[in-house]
Parts: sequence; structure tokens; C-alpha cells
Amino acid sequence: MTSAITCQNVRVGYGPLNVLRGVSFDIPVGQGVVLLGANGCGKSTLMRSLNGLEKLQSGKIIIHGASLTDATRRDLRQIRRGMGYVFQQFNLVPQLSAFQNVLLGAMGRHRLGILACLGLTAPAGERARAMACLERVGMADRARHRPTELSGGQQQRVAIARMLMQAPKVVIADEPIASLDPKAGREVLDLLWQIVREEGLSMLCTLHQLDLAQEYADRIIGMKAGRVEIDAAIADTDMTQMNALYSGMTRVDAQPTGEAA
Ligand SMILES: Nc1ncnc2c1ncn2[C@@H]1O[C@H](COP(=O)(O)OP(=O)(O)OP(=O)(O)O)[C@@H](O)[C@H]1O
Ligand SMILES: [Mg+2]
Repeated sequence: MTSAITCQNVRVGYGPLNVLRGVSFDIPVGQGVVLLGANGCGKSTLMRSLNGLEKLQSGKIIIHGASLTDATRRDLRQIRRGMGYVFQQFNLVPQLSAFQNVLLGAMGRHRLGILACLGLTAPAGERARAMACLERVGMADRARHRPTELSGGQQQRVAIARMLMQAPKVVIADEPIASLDPKAGREVLDLLWQIVREEGLSMLCTLHQLDLAQEYADRIIGMKAGRVEIDAAIADTDMTQMNALYSGMTRVDAQPTGEAA
């Protein structure tokens, strides 16, 4: 079994605050995992750590066999190229069209310059790929629209097309439907999971809706106050267990600080 993401006893903190308090798990290639946990329990910190954006106090993170901890800057660029991020706030460039935003996804892969990403000098192959990615998410007819001319659900589709353009191996989706209504949210989850399955990708996706987690996830990882409380296949997880993630001391900043915490 090949691993997509491995965390070994990962610890991350900010000053005196210990946020990740020894997080370990292993996600095999092809698995779609939902990460659950209350506000402030450390989910986004974990997701940033997977991209090398947080300095580990200790522990190890390995992405597709490459250790982040021992990575040179060049290695880190290579690892980051293989990771696609989807965020709650879509993070599209407001001045650019949907098409240009998608072209940006190719920037790291081909070292395309900014002019190319504006579509001015992009190779025909890349332009065709960007259109194909927009088609894949049902947004080809909005290619010329700017983000402000699109609904939240449509913007998230464009962000997913940009992620597809990047051709990642691993998808990190941090609350991808938190800004969307229930119908648009479901459509985005359908799309994300469909892409993960069809492309053989691996995904770690945070959600706050337990029913959707049950419906979509292959596996649940549940965090509470910086630690993994649940790590189980979806068939082995029940609502009582999941609900318990949201009771008692859930936030890391409500816990005592220091190494013992
Ligand atoms: N850059 C930072 N500097 C200091 N503290 C931080 C920083 N980033 C996060 N924290 C703290 O770390 C803790 C965990 O935050 P994090 O954003 O990882 O939680 P989360 O589980 O993603 O919450 P939510 O569900 O609200 O998104 C919080 O107490 C937060 O205040
Ligand atoms: Mg968060």
C-alpha cells in the first residue's frame, strides 16, 4: 500500500501554545478522508503543516515518499507542486477571468510567466487544457467572467478547475463548502469526490457537517484539542463518536500550555 500522506507524531505550536500535540496518521493513495473537529482544534494548522508552511517542533511529514522535514527548497517546491489546495474563500484573483485563474494553476508546473497565465503567451496546449478543466467543472460557458460575476458555488468550481490544472497528486480542501448553500455545497462535494476517484488522487477535506462526512468520506479523522481522537473507516464510525468531538475541551487555546498539555 503506497502512502500519500504520513504524519508521525507531528507537533506544531505558536509561542507557548501547543497546537498539534503529537498527530499521527497515514493516508494511502486514492483515499478520500474527512477531517472533523471543533473550531480551534488545529485542523487548518495541520493542513498548512502538510504544505511545509508551518515549522514542526518535532515529528515527521512524508508526502508520496518525500519527507518535508528533510526537504531542500527545491524538494519543497516539487512537493508543493503535487499538492492542490481548495479553500473556503476560493482565493481566486479578482482582476482575472475564470479562464486566466485556471491558467494560473499551470504556473508552478511549467514555470509559465505571468503573461502566459494571463493567456497572452500561453502555449496553445495549456490554453486548451485550461478550457478542458473549466469544462470538467461545468464552467466553460463562464470562462470570460471575473470572480465577482460568479456565485460562490461557481467560484469554487473555478478554484477546483485551477487545482485540476495544477495536476496534483494530493488534494487538501479546507472547509471547501463552508461559504456555500446546502445545494451548491453538495454539488462541490460531488465534484471533488468524483475528481479524486477518476484521477486516483488522495484527499484530506475538512467539513463541519457530520451527515455529509458520513455520506462522502472513505475514512474519518477526528481531532480534539490538537490530538487525533478518531481514525476509522466510515463504516466503523458512528454519530455518537463524531458528536463527542464537539463536547468538552475541544480548542487548543482553552487547554493548559506547556509540554505536558
Ligand atoms: N499563525 C498563528 N499564530 C498564533 N496562533 C495561531 C496561528 N494560527 C492558528 N493559531 C491558533 O491555533 C489554534 C488552532 O487554529 P486552527 O486554525 O488550526 O483551528 P481549526 O481547527 O482550523 O479551526 P476552525 O474550525 O475554526 O477553522 C487556535 O487557537 C488559533 O488561534
Ligand atoms: Mg480552520
